[in-house]
Amino acid sequence: MAQSTAIRGCVPTVILAVFLLIQPSISIYCEEDDCYDLLGVSQTANSSEIKKAYYKLSLKHHPDKNPDPESKKLFVKVANAYEILKDEATREQYDYAIAHPEEVFYNTARYYHAYYGHKTDTRAVLVGLLLVLSGFQYLNQWTRYNQALDMVKKTPAYKNKLKALELERTGGMTNKKKSNKQINKKVEEDLSKELELQIKGAERPSVWELIGIRFILLPYTLVKLLLWYGCWFWRYQVKQAPYSREDASYLTRRSLGVPSDSWRYIDESSKEDLIERRLWDKSNMESYREEMRKESKRRR
Ligand SMILES: *[C@@H]1O[C@H](CO)[C@@H](O)[C@H](O)[C@H]1NC(C)=O
Repeated sequence: MAQSTAIRGCVPTVILAVFLLIQPSISIYCEEDDCYDLLGVSQTANSSEIKKAYYKLSLKHHPDKNPDPESKKLFVKVANAYEILKDEATREQYDYAIAHPEEVFYNTARYYHAYYGHKTDTRAVLVGLLLVLSGFQYLNQWTRYNQALDMVKKTPAYKNKLKALELERTGGMTNKKKSNKQINKKVEEDLSKELELQIKGAERPSVWELIGIRFILLPYTLVKLLLWYGCWFWRYQVKQAPYSREDASYLTRRSLGVPSDSWRYIDESSKEDLIERRLWDKSNMESYREEMRKESKRRR
């Protein structure tokens, strides 16, 4: 169930990615026109012919001389065609795309490589990529979160809780219908809030989890980690201090391989019990495992 939800969440992402890649690969050059036709030259024209044709056309359609809006459009198109054909490398790419229209992916990739590789800073591309990824991530998180909420709201446990809360609020009085409805709404809101704290696996979406934000915070995170590690080393390796409750809890959780989310939901006395066993010690862990094995055999 959880898996199918996750798959449904990523479908729009995949569709968009495929759409971006399958754009007709020739039309990325001169849109619906042929770049050579725009300049009025043949595909075998040499570079000086192309240059001459471009200067002639750009003079003819220049917006200063020709106020016609159609002419302005043509001016832009011609300039774009010349951009592509004046450069040996992009012209060769374009010729290849004409000759092999079926190699959609290859042509598109080459076009974007030539285009963005030259003209934009890799840093800008990286920032753009992080932004897009973070956007998708955020949408996906919300979709999953809302699906989880909807599912929980359909369970009998939730409905019963809602009823109990309702009764508590109204004090069993059911004669004033109008105010009742208002109260119901309020109760439902409160319960939703409470629920939000309880749903495991689908945490409430948080901007701090986004790839982009994480990337920006990376230096801070690294420094924090380093400090934490340094303190740990100083306190427990150098000064040989006994583990604090919090750190003992962390060590226990880690030696058991329990994710921090799940650890939060274990009740305090069980945690205390586990911590006292000092499971981060290998021998203690082994004896604990042995005990568990015997326990499960006994149950069977
Ligand atoms: C390009 O072609 C024209 C006409 O065919 C010719 O006169 C000219 O010398 C050529 N230029 C180059 C650089 O090959």
